[in-house]
Amino acid sequence: MSDYRFIKACFSQPVDRTPIWLMRQAGRFMEEYRAVRAKVDFLTLCKSPELCTEVTLQPIDKFGLDAAIVFSDILIPIEPMGMRLHFDPAPVFEKPLRTQADVDALRVIEPEADVPFVAETVKMLRRELESRNVPLIGFAGAPFTLASYMVEGGGSKSFQNLKKMMWRDPKVFRSLMEKLTETVIRYLNAQVDAGAQAIQLFDTWGGVLSPADYLNFVLPYTRLVIQGIKKSPEDGHVPVINFVGNSQGFLPLVAQAGGDVIGIDWRIDIAEARRHVGKKAVQGNMDPIFLLAPIPEIEKRVKEILAAAGDTGHIFNLGHGIVPETPPDHVKALVDFVHEHGESHRVKG
Ligand code: CP3
Repeated sequence: MSDYRFIKACFSQPVDRTPIWLMRQAGRFMEEYRAVRAKVDFLTLCKSPELCTEVTLQPIDKFGLDAAIVFSDILIPIEPMGMRLHFDPAPVFEKPLRTQADVDALRVIEPEADVPFVAETVKMLRRELESRNVPLIGFAGAPFTLASYMVEGGGSKSFQNLKKMMWRDPKVFRSLMEKLTETVIRYLNAQVDAGAQAIQLFDTWGGVLSPADYLNFVLPYTRLVIQGIKKSPEDGHVPVINFVGNSQGFLPLVAQAGGDVIGIDWRIDIAEARRHVGKKAVQGNMDPIFLLAPIPEIEKRVKEILAAAGDTGHIFNLGHGIVPETPPDHVKALVDFVHEHGESHRVKG
């Protein structure tokens, strides 16, 4: 069994202190990242293993986080399915999907040929992380969140094109979800084969649905994805974090969909979230905007979250990605507070 405290926490085993990593921990809030981005556009960065490795390691070396996450974007596997993508800086698909013919024209990707740079990045990172004694998380967007960008053409407030497809043309919607499910399984397995030690599934927009619609239109596909993730030749079962934004109204369903860890946002108390997810570990749940609050307030909030979460089966994180306006010294303070206050009453080793 792995000795990393992050991996142990994923399996709800005792740890010496609560591990912490942050969604979007590599990004524009860091000047080191902005310096790399000044030279290349975002998509080029995502396709350059050496640069991806460099920016993945920046927050590890600067803040002492307990896990690294492969630098990429959830929309990277969508381009080779046949949709033109650009970032401005938010993602835009010029020709959103609307009809069965649009969905039929999509291909299921073959990661080795279509996104070779992802496995290459994972391999490079494993070599670099070995000496730092930090495990590597691979990731993918969950089918529903990917579908939302493909059908809306980008970000959305009402998700009306996606919901219209779901309720008016459920066959079209389901055929899209099926193709995405297969693509995501292949994409995640390519990362596991290359050495990813944990997987996070991002279903950022799952919470725009009612519990009944989540159960009917999302849960079956998420479950297939999680069941489709293979064992790692090196580590056996790879822990899966199932993060669904805004899911406080249906956490038992998220837990039913699967995963070893349930990722939650700040809209629910973490002690209450635990009661909804049974024996699974939980990840979260500070509001990313709280990093703009004064440092003594951050310390108080850290203590509250740690106390509510309990000692085992908790991975400290934000409830959504860190924002570009975040002061890096506040991130450093946050990581240090979690390390300091998250080690009381622990079993050593
Ligand atoms: O966490 C990490 O450090 C790894 C890298 C990572 C990025 N995006 C880098 C990125 C990860 C895990 C993601 C996931 C992602 N991408 C999600 C799910 C989680 C979330 O944060 O909601 C979503 C919905 C996307 C799609 C996406 N990519 C959006 C909506 C945007 C624009 C928003 C923004 O921050 O401007 C992106 C661009 C993006 N992805 C950037 C980064 C560092 C900024 C691009 C730049 O450098 O200009």
